[in-house]
Amino acid sequence: MQKIAIIPGDGIGIDVTREAVKVLRRANEVFKLPLELVEFEFGADYYLKTGIGLPPGQMEEFRKNYAAVYLGALGDPRIPDMRHGREILLGMRFDLDLYINLRPVKLLNERLCPLKDKTAKDVDFVVFRENTEGPYINAGGILKKGTPDEVATQESYYTRKGVERIIRAAFAYAKSHGRTRVTMSDKSNVLRYGHDLWQRVFAKVGEEYPEIEKDHFFVDALVMKMVKNPEHFQVIVTENMLGDIITDLGAILQGGLGMAGSGNIHPGQVSLFEPVHGSAPSMAGKNKANPLAAILTVAMMLDFLGHPQAAAAVEAAVQKAVDEKQVTADVGGNLGTKECGDFVVAQIG
Ligand code: NAD
Ligand code: IPM
Ligand code: MN
Repeated sequence: MQKIAIIPGDGIGIDVTREAVKVLRRANEVFKLPLELVEFEFGADYYLKTGIGLPPGQMEEFRKNYAAVYLGALGDPRIPDMRHGREILLGMRFDLDLYINLRPVKLLNERLCPLKDKTAKDVDFVVFRENTEGPYINAGGILKKGTPDEVATQESYYTRKGVERIIRAAFAYAKSHGRTRVTMSDKSNVLRYGHDLWQRVFAKVGEEYPEIEKDHFFVDALVMKMVKNPEHFQVIVTENMLGDIITDLGAILQGGLGMAGSGNIHPGQVSLFEPVHGSAPSMAGKNKANPLAAILTVAMMLDFLGHPQAAAAVEAAVQKAVDEKQVTADVGGNLGTKECGDFVVAQIG
């Protein structure tokens, strides 16, 4: 048995998770998978009621007894500093040591791409975003707050172990998936300590993969290249915040945030799967949100759980929905969230 925690969260997270769960249950049935789904109400309402993001012991429970956690999205205008979101989402990324944020950028149909003359074969790469270090560590402070002399510091760190394991994961993925080039992106021309470490580790780990081309772009040049020649990229590896920014650009290349799935992974341990998008409060509860990012995230989770056939069936069903325009308005269709989810479910098995 594999236990899966389902956290719909806030806003459209709730709308899209409903569809993702339908797909997951269908795959579970059709492919006779051993999945047991357990739903949790963590999110803004729960936080406003209790003051708690994740209850004490919950992380341990996920760690010990669950195979994966599925999260819709977090974010609520009543909690403008997103305290609950950081506690739950960054809490899981850091406490469960989910060092790989795997974000595929795959265009399913050229109709969805905002770039001129680019087809599905031109936009097909994956981003390995480091997920436990960099500026996300929440270290720093504020002095003389609110005065004209105020000083704010936001610290960032990179460890050799942390940089090494994400770079190695990117190379290993390239090797096992028939990719021939790994691109590392940083800002080492300016950030002479932290990103210098990235440069050195990339060169060193790269020696273990002589058959794979080592490629490098400073991040400003990388985003330009992603728009001009996305076909250049196969696997991109980068640090946490640059990866955050790069993957929203990646999302738009594949049709928008409604099409981008992700996994927060520690191989062999409980891992977290979520669409790249947030809670989009203005769309919430209106049956308008695109559920395909959430459903593609289900496929990633099934793959991680060792069910590649089921994963492939879910991906094929999404491909069909896109090709037959059985989709929501953001990607050129006229279905609601639920109707799009129903279409995908009907294609499986
Ligand atoms: P967002 O991703 O929620 O939405 C940005 C815009 O993208 C939306 O206005 C909408 O036009 C479009 N969009 C996003 N998802 C879509 C979907 N499934 N279907 C159709 N269109 C979609 O980003 P935001 O507005 O910057 O953030 C809203 C809240 O979500 C904030 O509180 C933010 O902190 C949070 N957030 C959470 C996560 C997460 O939980 N992983 C990720 C990003 C942002
Ligand atoms: C993402 C989001 C998160 C991040 C926020 C909501 C903490 O933007 O998953 O991309 O910055 O990692
Ligand atoms: Mn982001």
